[in-house]
Amino acid sequence: MKIAPSILAADFLKLGDEIREVEAAGADYIHIDVMDGHFVPNITMGPGTVSAIDSITDLPLDVHLMIENPHLYITDFAKAGADYLTIHVEADPHLHRTLQEIKKHDVKAGVVLNPATPAESIKYVLGDIDMVLLMTVNPGFGGQSFIESVLPKMTEIRKMADDQGLDLEIEVDGGINAETARLCKQAGADVFVAGSFIFNQSDRKKAIQELRRQVEQ
Ligand code: DX5
Ligand code: ZN
Repeated sequence: MKIAPSILAADFLKLGDEIREVEAAGADYIHIDVMDGHFVPNITMGPGTVSAIDSITDLPLDVHLMIENPHLYITDFAKAGADYLTIHVEADPHLHRTLQEIKKHDVKAGVVLNPATPAESIKYVLGDIDMVLLMTVNPGFGGQSFIESVLPKMTEIRKMADDQGLDLEIEVDGGINAETARLCKQAGADVFVAGSFIFNQSDRKKAIQELRRQVEQ
């Protein structure tokens, strides 16, 4: 299993320290939420922030693009140091083309599904991606409640990948805590994004260890 703290819940005035702290506490990836105020009703950060983060951590940067027209920004985020770029299936009518563009930059490519988007929507790109990110809240904000009806979708996609012999990471994002992470693991997920569960606790190491313990037991 892998744990990806979402810095959306970090203290932006101390972002460097926050990232160093979760890195030392055993995080596997740093999850960066990019929002454009169009695809989702919130605005966060862009390639400049990704580049600054890349300069202070060795962890892979898992960049979640909640933006319209993602193809226009792939080069910028790749140059900024993204290790994973995930794009929403709902935001791009030319999914296959944009995924190829990501891979051209030697960046791992992933597709994100909102809670109501069916598993079949990625059937024909499954062989072209490294990761599927399943939203377990409606994207746009941290601190929301986990949507349980997404659980069967994890099982369905894990089965689709296994049937094709694919080594696919299934990441979950939104409302993840020790309990919901365990449910997701049982349903087939193996990468866990957590924002408020990690950054709202003063002891980040304890939070990460608790997540790991619950999922691995
Ligand atoms: C929501 C973002 C999430 C968010 C998760 O749109 O994609 O990554 O930061 O926050 P928590 O873990 O607090 O639900
Ligand atoms: Zn996210």
